[in-house]
Amino acid sequence: MRRGLEDVSASTTVAAPHGEGAAAADGDGVPFPGLARLAAELELPELPTPFLVVDLDVMERNIERMATYFGRSGSRLRPHMKHHKCTEISRLQLKAGCAGITCATSDEISAAVRSGIDDILLANVLTDRNRLASVADSATRAKVTIAADSAHAAQLASAAATDHHAHLGVVVEVDIGMHRSGVSSAGEAVELAQYVASLPGLSFRGIMAYEGGLVEIADRAARSAAVHAAFEPISGLLEQLTRAGLDVEMVTGGATSTYDVAYELAYLTDVQAGSYVFMDAAYAKLIPEFEVALAAIATVATSRPGRPVVLDVGSKRISTDWGTPVLAGFHARHYANSEEHNRFMVDGPRMPEIGERVAVVPGHSSSTVSLYQHLIGCRNNRFERILKVDGRDTIA
Ligand SMILES: Cc1ncc(COP(=O)(O)O)c(C=O)c1O
Repeated sequence: MRRGLEDVSASTTVAAPHGEGAAAADGDGVPFPGLARLAAELELPELPTPFLVVDLDVMERNIERMATYFGRSGSRLRPHMKHHKCTEISRLQLKAGCAGITCATSDEISAAVRSGIDDILLANVLTDRNRLASVADSATRAKVTIAADSAHAAQLASAAATDHHAHLGVVVEVDIGMHRSGVSSAGEAVELAQYVASLPGLSFRGIMAYEGGLVEIADRAARSAAVHAAFEPISGLLEQLTRAGLDVEMVTGGATSTYDVAYELAYLTDVQAGSYVFMDAAYAKLIPEFEVALAAIATVATSRPGRPVVLDVGSKRISTDWGTPVLAGFHARHYANSEEHNRFMVDGPRMPEIGERVAVVPGHSSSTVSLYQHLIGCRNNRFERILKVDGRDTIA
């Protein structure tokens, strides 16, 4: 009989400390040897593949490392929940010293509030009335700050807040080069800030500027210089806002591969890094001081010499929006993916065997996690507990 998650939950194994690092490669260049061992040693034969595992020791080290880094400056870290969509993990981040969390969707906010989190930044401009109603409802139970980049968006937020007898803080988003959202000049930002301050149900709290277009610059010094340059206009804007009589209590931006640059920008009060918790194959190259904690466990469907090895995890269960997945523990090159399969050319000395379970590190963990309802939390390569992806979107 096939077992499900309930049965797995009941068979919790007590873990021993292991302290084994999740290095991106061993001395021979074999990628993610720790996660490969996890796949080999994990005793969950009844759980059908693919499923996502989290090495809890590694995840906790990442959380601690980032919190300690920001701890030196008071709590300027407001970790992004969109990465893991798991309130249990957000609560671990708060326990490590973060003052609040960042969300991207109304569903993440609802889940966070349900779990008792009381200080939330929505680092996203929402204009759908239903989503705004949900955010306003959450704001009756928690301190919620949202982003706006137009008078229209601010009006919609104001209407939602007043309908719900709620209050929303607002940060005005400024486009610093990503061209996704944000006003495009300091003058526009000041005008919108004044308008927000005049609307019922809203209060102006500050500025958001997100350097998302720069996070992939491979060279660290070049990345740092580009981020400093992109943020350059912000100090002038802050002076203009003060001259206009507006109080700026929050200036927010930042990401995982730029966390150290964000730290240097002393006026950033709330740094939105998220992916440092699990990391992924793309970020492992950019920010190696954080370790990869997450992998999909897949079963080898086909393995023939000279042909690609075929795994039962495809683009429906490992995202393909940012970089290709990496087969842990093998010298292998990603060959192709399709809906239910990923294929790798494996270059010895050992081929994965048909039926063997292997670990595949996603190119992008954030968009992979949202394809699953649960994460299998492991310690010392043994199952410890299930983490619910409870901030997933409610899908129409
Ligand atoms: C607005 C915003 N802030 C912060 C982040 C966090 O970035 P990361 O997951 O790279 O840490 C993102 C990620 O896409 C984002 O969209």
